[in-house]
Amino acid sequence: MPKRPYVIDEMISAKAIAARIEALCREITKEFAGTDKLVVVGLLRGSFVFIADLVRELDLPIEVDFLEASSYGDTMESSREVRILKDLRGAIEGRDVLVVEDIVDTGHTLNHVIGLLKSRHPARLKSIALLDKPSRREAEIRADWIGFEIPDEFVVGYGIDFAQRNRNLPFIGKVRFTG
Ligand code: PRP
Repeated sequence: MPKRPYVIDEMISAKAIAARIEALCREITKEFAGTDKLVVVGLLRGSFVFIADLVRELDLPIEVDFLEASSYGDTMESSREVRILKDLRGAIEGRDVLVVEDIVDTGHTLNHVIGLLKSRHPARLKSIALLDKPSRREAEIRADWIGFEIPDEFVVGYGIDFAQRNRNLPFIGKVRFTG
């Protein structure tokens, strides 16, 4: 539970998110047109709201799978390690895969997941992130589709938490500490 009092200022409205998802899904539907084997992979937990809205705007035959990765800092090292807490249920060899991430910050999580999935020889491997914070990047990675590029703000909502709270906000908000 957060220890300091804070308020949340709306940064990206639910309406703006929905409009952006619609536009992105038109592009993704075009990119994967003709596929009969797209696996949409959500990275838990943060992407659970985004993937739910995204798949309902895709006019494609899809399957949905989930992967949970956890990254943690090591005070002795500058690089971050990423562990897989929950792997995919299905095999992806020879299949088209779209990885869905809520936010790319340092990029270590997405970088690690893309490397891992590549080693399983999918036919095509693409990624989408709702939010991108390029100013924080440490790993050399960029999602193929990005919803919104944002400055280095502490964001919550639409699946993203602050100490496990606020994931259920329908919009993206900015945390502002009041004490
Ligand atoms: C958050 C977020 C991304 C990742 C981005 O996940 O959902 O997956 O961090 O950070 P990075 O680009 O610096 O690696 P978190 O580990 O907080 O878990 P959660 O999705 O369960 O909230």
